Amino acid sequence: MNEGLTIVRGMSHGILVEATDLLLEAFALKLEHDLRPKTPEQARRLIAESIAPELGWVALGERGALLGVAGVGVYRRRFSQIRPRTFLHEFGLLGAISRWLPVFFEEVMTRPGRRQWCLEVLAVTGASRGSGVGSRLLSEVLAAAREAGVRSVGLEVVDTNVRAMQLYERIGFRRVLSIPTAWLTESSGYRAIHFMRFDVSEMNEGSV
Ligand SMILES: CC(C)(COP(=O)(O)OP(=O)(O)OC[C@H]1O[C@@H](n2cnc3c(N)ncnc32)[C@H](O)[C@@H]1OP(=O)(O)O)[C@@H](O)C(=O)NCCC(=O)NCCS
Repeated sequence: MNEGLTIVRGMSHGILVEATDLLLEAFALKLEHDLRPKTPEQARRLIAESIAPELGWVALGERGALLGVAGVGVYRRRFSQIRPRTFLHEFGLLGAISRWLPVFFEEVMTRPGRRQWCLEVLAVTGASRGSGVGSRLLSEVLAAAREAGVRSVGLEVVDTNVRAMQLYERIGFRRVLSIPTAWLTESSGYRAIHFMRFDVSEMNEGSV
């Protein structure tokens, strides 16, 4: 159990730096596959610059240590979005196109409508996993969605991320679509992407 756990909406600059490190660690394989950064510094710069802190939540432990991060996409704004011109600046024209395409595909597939959100990011530090931090973050995000009048929250998860999928199912997300991607993603360790949705209108106060 995380006794001193606090969930805060938004991020200060200091926390943003720590959150960037957590995202680089938690999504190392995916970032390597999609972004193919030339150096670790480049990866850190791309992620740090792409984050909109106001669309994030952080889980803080004792003495304010960062334990986890969640981020959502809302209508026309995303928690983490690398702009085409940043890709161009960092990788040149051909490098930018090949990197931007998978990111664009993911963005289109999870793009929220006016009364929808998508959970873009949920990550907990290695040492804190399995003690309810991810569940608490997710509960706060869903409570905020309800308060904002959002109808549904979508997300995508790869087939090999069983732990995350179990967590989402336990909270009440249901699978709505699966896309086989093995021909493209086998080298990254997964063969399909599952799209899941949480129906906020079915949520009772204090139910998650
Ligand atoms: C997926 C992830 C966010 C889950 O976070 P987490 O903090 O470990 O999640 P929780 O602890 O809330 O729940 C995980 C499991 O721990 C169990 N758990 C929850 N509270 C617990 C507690 N107090 N004591 C012991 N176990 C607990 C839960 O039952 C849950 O098990 P189940 O859902 O498999 O039945 C985390 O593993 C992670 O950061 N992974 C890497 C990034 C990632 O894959 N993100 C998802 C991308 S789609």
